[in-house]
Amino acid sequence: MRVIAIDGPAGSGKSTVARAVAQRLGLDYLDTGAMYRSVAFACLRRGIDPLDAEKVAALAPSLDIEVAGRVTVDGDDATEAIRSPEVTKAVTAVAANPEVRAEMVRRQRAWAESRGGGVVEGRDIGSVVFPQAAVKVYLTASDEERARRRSHEVRADDVTAVAADIARRDHADSTREASPLHVAEGATVIDTTGHTVDEIVDQVIGMLP
Ligand code: CDP
Repeated sequence: MRVIAIDGPAGSGKSTVARAVAQRLGLDYLDTGAMYRSVAFACLRRGIDPLDAEKVAALAPSLDIEVAGRVTVDGDDATEAIRSPEVTKAVTAVAANPEVRAEMVRRQRAWAESRGGGVVEGRDIGSVVFPQAAVKVYLTASDEERARRRSHEVRADDVTAVAADIARRDHADSTREASPLHVAEGATVIDTTGHTVDEIVDQVIGMLP
């Protein structure tokens, strides 16, 4: 199984780079953040408090989540809805829930096993999900650059508010007990600030054994 693990915080360029690497190599691509966002979306839709660990843990295994191309949750298209500010807020508690993580990790491993690997993007891919990945990278970028990129993606004019939300998630993701965001053992840190997507993609592909 050949997995390329791409981790990093919001706005570091993970999705863009992971998608481009997958396309160049003819591999499938998995956005694991979309999976956690889908669980958060389902909580909000059912009126479940994201902080109610027991209810959220019971909900996660029952959900049918598809994140290939369009995102669907129990058959309903949630592609745009999972990027809403409400879901972005709720996902933090959902992703800190160890039982939710165990369920998502099981699905992520099954996804890779069924296709002999792929490019997988997230926060804990090189550290927890695929510690034996063929390539492990941890993307970063300056705080300003990350806020600028994310504001552009979500079409938000208020870059300061976006920066504050990124800082909130960075802190929560890095300090939580369950699989905190950190540079995995053996991962190469790449600062994407001021670099083109192609430059980063070349660097990642050049690391393949
Ligand atoms: O795209 P962005 O970086 O804003 O976030 P995302 O990749 O869609 O992930 C949303 C949230 O899910 C993150 O802030 C983490 O709390 C969580 N997440 C995680 O805990 N583990 C992963 N492997 C992927 C995402």
